[in-house]
Amino acid sequence: MKVRPYVADDERDWLRLRVLAFLDTPYYDNVLQAKERYRNPAIELVCVEAGQLVGLIDVELDSDRRSVCSLKEGKGGMIWHIAVHPDYRRRSIASLLLAEVEKAAHGHRLDYLEAWTREDPAANQWYKRHLFRQHTSYLHVYMDAEEAKRSTHSHCQDVTPLGVFAHYSGDREEDVRNAFTRVHECRCYVKQLKGESLDANA
Ligand SMILES: CC(C)(COP(=O)(O)OP(=O)(O)OC[C@H]1O[C@@H](n2cnc3c(N)ncnc32)[C@H](O)[C@@H]1OP(=O)(O)O)[C@@H](O)C(=O)NCCC(=O)NCCS
Repeated sequence: MKVRPYVADDERDWLRLRVLAFLDTPYYDNVLQAKERYRNPAIELVCVEAGQLVGLIDVELDSDRRSVCSLKEGKGGMIWHIAVHPDYRRRSIASLLLAEVEKAAHGHRLDYLEAWTREDPAANQWYKRHLFRQHTSYLHVYMDAEEAKRSTHSHCQDVTPLGVFAHYSGDREEDVRNAFTRVHECRCYVKQLKGESLDANA
C-alpha cells in the first residue's frame, strides 16, 4: 500500500472511487464528473494498492489571496474529500492519508484542519477518533416535487421546481425536520494542529 500525490492521469479512477465510496453514505447522490481544481494551494493524495486507487484525500489551504476555512483565526486546511473504497475500509487507509496530510501541514504552517460531513456513523466516528471536535452544524434539506411546491415559488415563468436543495441555519430545526422528508445535519469538525483550541464544545 502506497500513499502518493494525485496526478492528472488518476482523474478517471479518482472519480469512480469517490462515487463508490459515497454510495452507502448520506452523500450517495453527490457525484462529480470532473475533479475539482483548487484556487489555493492544496494537498491532494491518493492511496494505491496493487495498482488500484483505494483511498483519496484533498485538502485546500487558506492563503493570503483567498480563505477557504470558516474559522477566521489562524491558517486552516479544508478537507474537501476523503474517501476509501468500500472493500478496503477499516484497514487504516484514511488514517494513513490523514497522517501524510498532517506531515505536509506542518511544512505549510497550518493551525487547524476543517471538515464538513453529514450524519454517517463511520465518518463521524473516524473524525472523532482522530481528535476532530464538532464545532457547529446546519441542515441540508432536499425537497421533492410536493415539498418544493408548497415551500418555494419560482419567479421564472413556466419554470416549476420539481426538486430543491436548501440550507437551513435557523434555530427551528425540529420544524424543518417535520416539514421535509430528506434532511441531513451537516457538521463542521475541526482538528487543532497547533496553538489554542478553537473547539466550541471543548
Ligand atoms: C470515513 C472513511 C474515510 C474511513 O476510512 P477507513 O480507511 O475505513 O478508516 P480507518 O481504517 O483509517 O479508521 C478506522 C476507524 O474509523 C472509525 N470507523 C470507520 N468506519 C467505521 C464504522 N463503520 N463504524 C464505526 N466506526 C468506524 C473507527 O474509529 C475505526 O477504528 P476501529 O476500526 O479501530 O474501530 C470511510 O468509511 C469512507 O470512505 N466513507 C465514505 C466517504 C465519507 O463519508 N467520507 C467522509 C465524509 S466527507
